[in-house]
Amino acid sequence: MRAATSLRHSRIVGLGEHRPAGTLTNDDISARGLDTSDEWIRTRTGIVSRHVAASDETVVSMGIDAAAKALAAAGLTGADVDLVILATCTMRNPIPGGAARIATGMGAAGVGAFDVNAACGGFCYALSIASDAIRAGSATRAVVVGSEKLTDWLDWTDRGTCILFGDGAAAAVVEVSDEPGIGPVAWGSDGDAYASVGVPEGDWAIRMDGPAVFRWATTQLAPVAHRACELAGVELADIRAFVPHQANNRIVDALARALKLPDHVVVARDIATTGNTSAASVPLAFASLVNTGEVSSGDLALLLAFGAGLTYAGQVVRIP
Ligand code: UT7
Repeated sequence: MRAATSLRHSRIVGLGEHRPAGTLTNDDISARGLDTSDEWIRTRTGIVSRHVAASDETVVSMGIDAAAKALAAAGLTGADVDLVILATCTMRNPIPGGAARIATGMGAAGVGAFDVNAACGGFCYALSIASDAIRAGSATRAVVVGSEKLTDWLDWTDRGTCILFGDGAAAAVVEVSDEPGIGPVAWGSDGDAYASVGVPEGDWAIRMDGPAVFRWATTQLAPVAHRACELAGVELADIRAFVPHQANNRIVDALARALKLPDHVVVARDIATTGNTSAASVPLAFASLVNTGEVSSGDLALLLAFGAGLTYAGQVVRIP
């Protein structure tokens, strides 16, 4: 065998978002007879409304749209891609995964394609796999998609879960680069706590020990952010944007406080109109910051995803 060529670099060159047209406000939810209120949900989570996919909008169709928009943002087409990775945990059927159909739908039929299920941590896991594949020479250009239809998995009588989640998809195009554009991933898991959030065996809807997940997220994840910076060789002061998983604004506040983020760091707050979209949450929040011009191309962003498993992953990336 020929020795591997020396490692190349990777970078993100385009982002795309798919936000379903259907929306559901907190008032809509309480109007359905659930014992909750707009005031409770806003105060405890920061969520005001969330997007809900139509019956013909699926993890795959939303992923195709997000991928097509990410390619368009990069001035590319599906023919330029040789790897597609889908991060999701809400496919209706476990087999087959959705990545191959997304590849075909975006005009990249035949390329390497597979799904990653690390729940809400999924996008940062998938991004690191794509980056490493490109760096090692296994791919030249990848599309990483986070797509979720969580409303298929919600019990609308369970007020501890149904108020939190929404549907959507976002995608990033990753390619070979002369300069480092995606730092090494800081990742990990806690399998002992697997039962704290997920769809229990024999059940059909997401169940959660909210306070337990809240405690974990607010006490255990700041070191992961520090580690991601350390691996990338940057200080928190070098970061322009912090893009944590959008699970709860109070978790985001606690993380920002624990990290003592400098004032110039823009913190993603996409949750207000999006809710928690699991593997789509970090790329949607990131794409929103980029597409609204809140951050500039070339700056650094710190991504941090976490959720069921428990799993977590984060990395520093250069903003496309
Ligand atoms: O992405 C997956 C990872 N998931 C997360 O990161 C979620 C982490 N957890 C959370 O965000 C929070 O724990 C929740 C938002 C889910 C809940 O907030 P909390 O402040 O931890 O509330 P709690 O579960 O401790 O409940 C406090 C009270 C309870 O009533 P009592 O026992 O004090 O009378 C709950 O029954 O609030 C009640 N409650 C609600 N009341 C109105 C729980 N959900 C609701 C609701 N509306 N939707």
